[in-house]
Amino acid sequence: MRFCLFLMAAAVFAQVPSPKYERPAPEQPIPFSHKTHATVGLACKQCHPMPDPGDFATFPATSVCMSCHREIKKDSPHIAKLAAHHAEGKKIPWVRVYRIPDYVFFNHQQHNAAPGVSCETCHGPVAERAVLRRERDLGMQSCMECHRAKNAKNDCKLCHDQR
Ligand code: HEC
Ligand code: HEC
Ligand code: HEC
Ligand code: HEC
Ligand code: HEC
Repeated sequence: MRFCLFLMAAAVFAQVPSPKYERPAPEQPIPFSHKTHATVGLACKQCHPMPDPGDFATFPATSVCMSCHREIKKDSPHIAKLAAHHAEGKKIPWVRVYRIPDYVFFNHQQHNAAPGVSCETCHGPVAERAVLRRERDLGMQSCMECHRAKNAKNDCKLCHDQR
């Protein structure tokens, strides 16, 4: 019985998701859902194309959204806001979820080309999320852990250069 209570207590603690890198979802200017848009059959790279040299995954231009939303849900206030930004040639000011300091080198294209590494490895199951929040650790220790596991280089200068 006592052991049983111990297990229950352990189960309760296990449900508290509080590693220090996790963050609540920021409020976005438009409530965009990856889950909804994955159901429509859009690939990640249609909205996050990673132009050369491939450092950034980038955010989609409003024209990408408007290719569907000129018709789909055009009476929604959120889509009206999207259309207004598009008409004025303004970007949507998306609030960043993942961010590393500018003194760190990081390249999306190279990581995506590495065997066994996918968007989900670093960002979690995005296609299942209605709202994105930081749920994976992308600090120095976790970068170095994966590099060690995959026999990639791990010297300081790989990620921090003195150029
Ligand atoms: C229809 C366009 C669209 C598709 C398809 C799409 N995304 Fe996004 N993505 C966005 C928009 C818009 C945002 C900004 C709003 C947000 O954070 O939810 C975003 C944000 C993100 C972010 C957070 C970036 C940051 O640091 O702020 C990640 C990570 C991401 N997407 C990964 C993915 C992955 C992985 C896929 C494929 C499974 C995918 N996206 C498919 C439009 C898209
Ligand atoms: C090895 C880990 C890793 C992988 C794999 C990865 N990302 Fe990222 N992603 C990051 C990091 C780190 C940042 C923050 C970059 C920064 O602050 O400059 C980021 C930022 C982003 C952003 C914000 C915009 C930007 O480019 O900074 C988007 C969108 C995004 N990732 C989408 C994706 C998609 C889509 C994939 C798969 C095609 C993917 N990521 C694969 C680590 C990763
Ligand atoms: C391939 C077509 C397509 C593209 C491209 C697309 N969407 Fe959508 N979007 C949809 C569909 C389909 C729905 C679901 C409509 C429904 O619920 O009936 C939707 C729903 C939405 C909704 C919810 C609207 C509401 O009030 O219910 C928002 C907000 C939205 N999209 C924003 C965006 C943004 C921002 C982009 C560009 C980053 C984008 N969409 C790109 C097809 C698309
Ligand atoms: C899931 C595993 C994984 C994670 C997490 C990861 N990396 Fe990597 N990274 C790799 C692999 C594998 C390579 C080697 C790719 C190759 O040789 O083409 C690499 C290569 C690199 C390179 C060298 C690319 C080049 O120019 O040759 C840099 C810089 C780098 N990573 C930085 C980072 C940083 C910064 C982070 C954390 C924000 C990070 N990585 C997280 C797997 C990872
Ligand atoms: C695979 C990539 C990678 C390697 C290799 C790496 N770092 Fe980092 N480093 C990072 C990232 C990412 C950050 C930013 C962490 C953050 O802000 O969460 C960082 C931050 C730092 C900082 C800022 C202080 C801090 O802890 O936030 C220092 C100092 C630093 N690194 C020193 C080093 C030294 C010394 C080495 C060699 C032993 C090294 N790094 C190797 C990725 C790397």
